[in-house]
Amino acid sequence: MAHSITLLPGDGIGPEVTKATRTVIDAAGVDISWDRHRVIGQTAVERGRPALPPDVIDSIKSTGVALKGPITTPVGKGFTSVNVQLRQRLDLYANVRPCITLPGVETPFEDTDLIIFRENTEGLYSGIETYDERLEIADSIARITKRGSERIVRFCFEYAKEHGRERVTLAHKANILKKTSGLFLDIGREVAADYPEIDFDDAIIDALCMNLVMYPEEYDCIVSTNLFGDILSDLTAGLVGGLGITAGANIGNDHAIFEAVHGSAPDIAGQNAANPTALIQSAVMMLEHIGEVAAANAINQAVTEMYREEETLTADMGGEASTSEFAEALADRVSHHTGS
Ligand code: NAI
Ligand code: MG
Repeated sequence: MAHSITLLPGDGIGPEVTKATRTVIDAAGVDISWDRHRVIGQTAVERGRPALPPDVIDSIKSTGVALKGPITTPVGKGFTSVNVQLRQRLDLYANVRPCITLPGVETPFEDTDLIIFRENTEGLYSGIETYDERLEIADSIARITKRGSERIVRFCFEYAKEHGRERVTLAHKANILKKTSGLFLDIGREVAADYPEIDFDDAIIDALCMNLVMYPEEYDCIVSTNLFGDILSDLTAGLVGGLGITAGANIGNDHAIFEAVHGSAPDIAGQNAANPTALIQSAVMMLEHIGEVAAANAINQAVTEMYREEETLTADMGGEASTSEFAEALADRVSHHTGS
């Protein structure tokens, strides 16, 4: 039976990388009935609709799973980020961002294999902000809840247990932010006590950043609050070769959205130049999530081979291939593996 999945191509490089990803999924022979919604973000606002149209939410509530391209957010004005709205409205509290060294990708670091677990619904991303015109002071509330902290840390430990990972590091700034980061750390320690088989430690965010660029191979699972997790995951993306290759998933109890870490990359949009690997790897996570493990493995293996042989890579990886050339070469390999 076909899987029903919501498809949000997004804007900027979004439509290009989603098209490439569909080519690869088709080659793996997975039967998917896509419910595609192109009108979202700025495109929706220009048509007098809300940036996050209700039919998008209805679709994801009905399918339970979405594959999503990036959506541009206006800076300092305009609508609230559609990406943030989706995570909050659907309560997708766990943002999972693996950063794993691909063969053939030259970086100053080797053997990085870590996963960032970012709390996705609260903290400084709550968007609870005020500006006092008279005093000319802006405030932002970094709301941390016991429930929100508990579920993300538990999610991280459960994931670690299921995937045979050995260590969880909790990133915080509890020395300064004693209430908010302090609560997150306290709850983290409590949850960690339920998983004696997994090593647990905590690290102050700034020191952790230094250690991550000196000894990335020492880290395994890193769990943090929303803003720290956001920044950390771009840093760790840089350790393994950049935003062109880093995947992500936003997971809640009832729904999940799979999307790359990168944004809409307006500087290269419309040029058939973007690297679709990040969204393809997000789709691999999606296929695992819906139980299509063989297809996920076939795509993963084909990606690894393409990078190992340094064949048909996109410009960000030092190659000359276009988005669609990369996708077609990968699709060929995938159909070879799956025999489809
Ligand atoms: P960005 O990730 O779009 O781009 C940063 C740099 O990385 C650019 O030089 C870009 O060309 C490069 N890059 C990104 N993805 C690439 C790919 N697949 N292949 C090759 N190069 C790639 O970040 P930026 O410029 O800060 O944000 C642009 C817009 O995207 C903003 O409106 C931002 O709000 C939005 N955004 C959306 C996200 C989402 O939909 N989840 C996530 C992050 C940003
Ligand atoms: Mg980000």
